[in-house]
Amino acid sequence: MESFAKFEHEGWQRVADKYDSVWARSTRQFIPLLLDAVEVTLNMSVLDVGCGPGYVAAAAAERGAAPRGLDFSGEMLAIAQKMFPRIEFCEGDAQNLPFTDATFDRVLANFALLHVSAPERACAEAFRVLKPGGKFGFTVWAAPEENPYAKIIDDAIQAHADLEVNLPAGPPHYLFSGREEFRRALERVGFNGASMIFKLHTIQWNVPAPRYPFDAERDAGVRTRGLLARQTFEKLRAIQRAIEESVRRYAKGDTFSIPKAAYVVAVSKT
Ligand SMILES: C[S@@+](CC[C@H](N)C(=O)[O-])C[C@H]1O[C@@H](n2cnc3c(N)ncnc32)[C@H](O)[C@@H]1O
Repeated sequence: MESFAKFEHEGWQRVADKYDSVWARSTRQFIPLLLDAVEVTLNMSVLDVGCGPGYVAAAAAERGAAPRGLDFSGEMLAIAQKMFPRIEFCEGDAQNLPFTDATFDRVLANFALLHVSAPERACAEAFRVLKPGGKFGFTVWAAPEENPYAKIIDDAIQAHADLEVNLPAGPPHYLFSGREEFRRALERVGFNGASMIFKLHTIQWNVPAPRYPFDAERDAGVRTRGLLARQTFEKLRAIQRAIEESVRRYAKGDTFSIPKAAYVVAVSKT
């Protein structure tokens, strides 16, 4: 898992300047739901883990909370600090948070947990730094069966990619499978499973051309990019064609409107 962490860290450092224009248009759409799920209100201390460009922290500040952002990528943090100079951002690992126990009212992680080498360890750290009665909220992409965008990418890869390439082993691509597995994982680290809110939410990602998602995965992704970078030219072209063909089904006027689904999860420390 050490090499997976290094692989992810290098990946995020490399794509930090592309993240905002390519991916944030979809990840930002989940932020109001995430803040509602954990009921972020006035004066709450909030930690935004894996904050990237800092949008969750900024949205919490708009609700009158006192947010801080944390990310392990210095490049991401530089962007966040420039965009939101009044918010405090710091460098650190989601799996070893640099805060004492019971510091925050809320811990949030918008699309960060799929990137850490030990997601349960990150959940345990969220639990530790929460005050009693505090809440942890996170989003993770839904698996291909429930997520049309993930299915487009997954189908193309399963059909055409060489999956035996040398990539650092990481956690499952879609974390836990289903509501009850999420509940059990959260209970194992101390959360009150009965309090769990678990919602599947779908947004539309509007892209300008059928090849945009392939380019995005190849140039601005991390894990999928690693797989694509290790394919032969022929396999890569086959993956690209398959993705483009699927994306065309979502034509809407001049653009392509692809549904992307994620789980919005919230749970209490009681
Ligand atoms: C998909 S981006 C999400 C960014 C942001 N939360 C958003 O809503 O757009 C994942 C972020 O998690 C960060 N990250 C990944 N693994 C991490 C770790 N172990 N510790 C801290 N940050 C991590 C990456 O640097 C990246 O900024």
